[in-house]
Amino acid sequence: MGLSSCYNFHDFRALARRRLPAPIFNYIDGAADDEITYRRNTEGFERCDLVPRVLRGVETIDLSVTVMGQKLAMPFYCSPTALQRLFHHDGERAVGAAASQYGTMFGVSSLGTVSLEELRKAYQTPQMYQFYFHKDRGLNSAMMARAKAAGVNVMMLTVDSITGGNRERDLRTGFSIPFKLTLGGVLSFATHPMWGINYLTHERFRLPQLDEHVDMRGGAVSIGRYFTEMLDPSMTWDDVAEMVRLWDGQFCLKGVMSLEDARRAAEIGCTGVVLSNHGGRQLDGSRAAFDQLAEVVDGVGDRIDVLMDGGVQRGTHILKALSLGAKAVGVGRYYLYPLAAAGRAGVERALGLMRAELERGMKLMGCRSIDQLSRANLRFR
Ligand SMILES: Cc1cc2nc3c(=O)[nH]c(=O)nc-3n(C[C@H](O)[C@H](O)[C@H](O)COP(=O)(O)O)c2cc1C
Repeated sequence: MGLSSCYNFHDFRALARRRLPAPIFNYIDGAADDEITYRRNTEGFERCDLVPRVLRGVETIDLSVTVMGQKLAMPFYCSPTALQRLFHHDGERAVGAAASQYGTMFGVSSLGTVSLEELRKAYQTPQMYQFYFHKDRGLNSAMMARAKAAGVNVMMLTVDSITGGNRERDLRTGFSIPFKLTLGGVLSFATHPMWGINYLTHERFRLPQLDEHVDMRGGAVSIGRYFTEMLDPSMTWDDVAEMVRLWDGQFCLKGVMSLEDARRAAEIGCTGVVLSNHGGRQLDGSRAAFDQLAEVVDGVGDRIDVLMDGGVQRGTHILKALSLGAKAVGVGRYYLYPLAAAGRAGVERALGLMRAELERGMKLMGCRSIDQLSRANLRFR
């Protein structure tokens, strides 16, 4: 199977699985504990049905939305994810190029493998910078100043990772940065020599958002230690309020799930919240963002942009979330498997297929623009 025979999430996943050494595939594919939340994220969409309208003149469809002041040509964006050059040697460059081609936003992780400045210069499309809160307040303000100077459009603070999730697949394979592979893990690298050749023949693996501040060379600070030693589990609303003031621009919290927290985010001046359980990778047993969406939109949707991510595999999933009131929807694994499978061409194909699904879905729903979607076209089972 090659890229041209990939038509959906499952096809891309199967191709990524073939191309990647198992520890890396499982890092993307895995989630926390029993992976219940991970599965529920997609199942949530299946408990709800679309009720189409007909005969409404749908020859042209406008998929654009405006979210946190950014005009996007499509109502979904590439959520920030770590370590992309491990999945394909072009990493964030491939994702930025594809997002830019389709006129949508992409996120750059603190644990990204290409610098936010390079990406900002290369692609004109809106860029989010995903931030983790460090114990060292000076480091936090230096990193925000750097993102501001680069021209990042949206600051996104991840608040669901106060400690790392229990990802047992990674424990079994020995996936960590630097690698501490188990024997099975080593064998899987040996049986995927192309990955190793690409890794060794391209520029050195780096974490440029952090390497001015954190010495990752020779494993001096592993990612595990970065989380436990450098990030601040005592972070509170007052700290975030200070960051919002400092940033003085579009600022969203990623990983909010309760209405109370979303209200608080609005009170301290955030312009967006992303309902998210980190793709099921943090608190297993936590609710799916889609299932929380209506409550949060009803409570604060008039004061702050409410976004969501988790489990999105189809255009109809996005249409359901938008019908409930989400302003835009994030995807993670949906673009990571294609990235691993085929780099930029893979991500472009995935975004193009999703756009085509959305356009087709809108026509079949009898809607010409996203604001014509509403709860009137949904029924829960
Ligand atoms: C491999 C991988 C790495 C991720 N890295 C980050 C990260 O560095 N920062 C962050 O806020 N979220 C991260 N996420 C979470 C995504 O931004 C997003 O919330 C999640 O993938 C959405 O779920 P989905 O994969 O089912 O679409 C990561 C997700 C995956 C799968």
